[in-house]
Amino acid sequence: MKKITIAIDGYSSCGKSTLAKDLAITLQYAHIDSGAMYRAVTLFMIDHDINVEDVDLVVENLSRVKVEFKFVGGANCTFLNDRNVESEIRKLRVSEKVSQIAVIAEVRHAMVALQRQMGQTKGIIMDGRDIGTVVFPNAELKLFLTADEKVRVERRFQELREKGHTITREEVKANLIQRDYIDTNRAESPLRQAEDAILFNNTHITRKEQLAMISALAKERIKSLAIADE
Ligand code: DC
Repeated sequence: MKKITIAIDGYSSCGKSTLAKDLAITLQYAHIDSGAMYRAVTLFMIDHDINVEDVDLVVENLSRVKVEFKFVGGANCTFLNDRNVESEIRKLRVSEKVSQIAVIAEVRHAMVALQRQMGQTKGIIMDGRDIGTVVFPNAELKLFLTADEKVRVERRFQELREKGHTITREEVKANLIQRDYIDTNRAESPLRQAEDAILFNNTHITRKEQLAMISALAKERIKSLAIADE
């Protein structure tokens, strides 16, 4: 079966990683959560008392950061310098600073290089903010996800609560608005829909319905590309 690259971009908390994970299982593809990589860099800086607004200092310390993904108990986990930080990077103290780290050009260049390396072999689904525009501009299928703000806040709030994080709806909402603003308005590869991306609003769609629609679309795309190759 022909393998393709699938890029999923969109605003914060609109289910990009959930869809990417579900789709990866259905298609038997690898999934890479690029946001986790920016979160791991942020965690490193916080843990080493490095002010994320001090760009020179962040850049100077970037070579001390090693980010990897490993399977632990059937789940893909983010490792920072050989430590499993999957849960740690989802905390508010990281979410509050990650967009400031993600505006730094040198950080982006390092992450994009790593992401391209990870995606060298096809059969990959990567989600983030610049995957269809910068990381894999030639991806065979590009999706741009969106959902109403209220729904996004609620979903993120429930997800964090289920994972045992102590957080209020107001904190989730403030963080979401702040990150979307910074991600959309930064100079270096801002969040935007690639011209050839399919816009998908999942406000009124369940996780199951979304997976059914997108996996049908992906299978159709894989089939038509395989025919074109013959
Ligand atoms: O997907 P996420 O919410 O875990 O991403 C965390 C932050 O990382 C997000 O606010 C912006 C940044 N990010 C980015 O700039 N580019 C990516 N490809 C992925 C994430």
